[in-house]
Amino acid sequence: MKILVTGGAGFIGSNFVRYMLARYPDVNVVNFDALTYAGNLENLQDLETDPRHVFVRGNIAAMEDVESLFRSHAFDAVVNFAAESHVDRSLHMGADVFIQTNVAGVQMLMDAVRMNGVGRFMQVSTDEVYGSLGEQGRFSESSPIQPNNPYAATKAAADLMVRAACRSHGLDAVITRCSNNFGPYQFPEKLIPLMIANAMEDKPLPVYGDGQHVRDWIFVTDHCAAIDCVLRNGKTGMIYNVGGDHDIPNLDVVRGILRCLGKPETLIRYVEDRPGHDRRYAIDASRIKRELGWKPVYDFEPALSRTVEWYVANRKWWERIRTGVYREYYEQLYRGRLESGEDGDAS
Ligand code: NAD
Ligand code: DAU
Repeated sequence: MKILVTGGAGFIGSNFVRYMLARYPDVNVVNFDALTYAGNLENLQDLETDPRHVFVRGNIAAMEDVESLFRSHAFDAVVNFAAESHVDRSLHMGADVFIQTNVAGVQMLMDAVRMNGVGRFMQVSTDEVYGSLGEQGRFSESSPIQPNNPYAATKAAADLMVRAACRSHGLDAVITRCSNNFGPYQFPEKLIPLMIANAMEDKPLPVYGDGQHVRDWIFVTDHCAAIDCVLRNGKTGMIYNVGGDHDIPNLDVVRGILRCLGKPETLIRYVEDRPGHDRRYAIDASRIKRELGWKPVYDFEPALSRTVEWYVANRKWWERIRTGVYREYYEQLYRGRLESGEDGDAS
């Protein structure tokens, strides 16, 4: 089975590639990633010598990149992780690139899938498309789509384009909508890795608003298992919610990290809230559990300590990101090949 994984140099994508190659000897992965600020080939260093993993640099929203990719490979399935994924960037740095990648890029991929007769297209979406919950209840797949920030709005738009391609062109597509992931290789702009890195450096931990916003945390490997499960057994046109059954306030997460590291709560700083900050997410994942037999297997506390231990053991990884040095890695790794014209555009 040959799978195209887009965005596989990012956090969840790199965990997914590793998960699939370790689990299935007959799986080959072509990993297509633009290497934006969030894409990091160091996330895939242990796979560099694996012949079942091929990396291609390219942009899902650039027609020439996508056409060339599909000309060079015949895929059985496409799993799309590629996205601009950070809410704060969509609020403070403009939504254009979010619209390009998260909406136009998804359409470009679906067109290529249809034109090239690929078996299945899988869109990795998010619970953020549902907007915010009040005090009670959980998101089900039939909850209204009510995104509250530009990132979420682009992910919702993509979900609707996938639905339309299914209905009007008979595309074999499935969608997962997952809650907040955590684990190794998460870019240190997101809550958990940011707080770990700051605490390790004895820097202040910026908690937005009153810190009582609730997220439903899932260990990344559980999300990868859910994607694998939906990719193989999900019903065409179906949406599957995925969640960790662990919805807790941000402040509890931050305190948990400080406890793991033996650092004082005096590092916590309450800062101005995120505009339009969704108050609470909680997922009802009963469909995927009932119909496909998936369930999360990692308990939050041990998975959080394991994650903290990973960031402690891999301090150089996140320090290189925070200093910007990680972006030189691609040039170093591919310099020889690029000079001989064997690889794509590194610009
Ligand atoms: P990430 O930001 O860590 O990684 C995104 C990857 O996509 C990077 O490697 C980046 O280089 C690549 N990319 C960006 N634009 C691209 C383009 N135009 N063409 C090709 N590659 C491009 O993101 P993540 O947290 O790993 O999220 C992956 C996917 O999962 C996203 O679609 C996100 O919406 C979804 N998701 C994330 C979470 C979460 O908690 N992180 C939860 C649910 C769903
Ligand atoms: O729910 C799934 C979504 O989870 C994914 O679709 C997104 O790609 C992913 O980034 C994540 O979005 P969030 O906005 O929930 O994640 P983030 O880590 O940015 O923030 C988690 C919570 O912590 C949120 O309530 C905002 C808060 N926060 C975040 C940061 C970065 C803080 O209080 N301080 C911070 O410095």
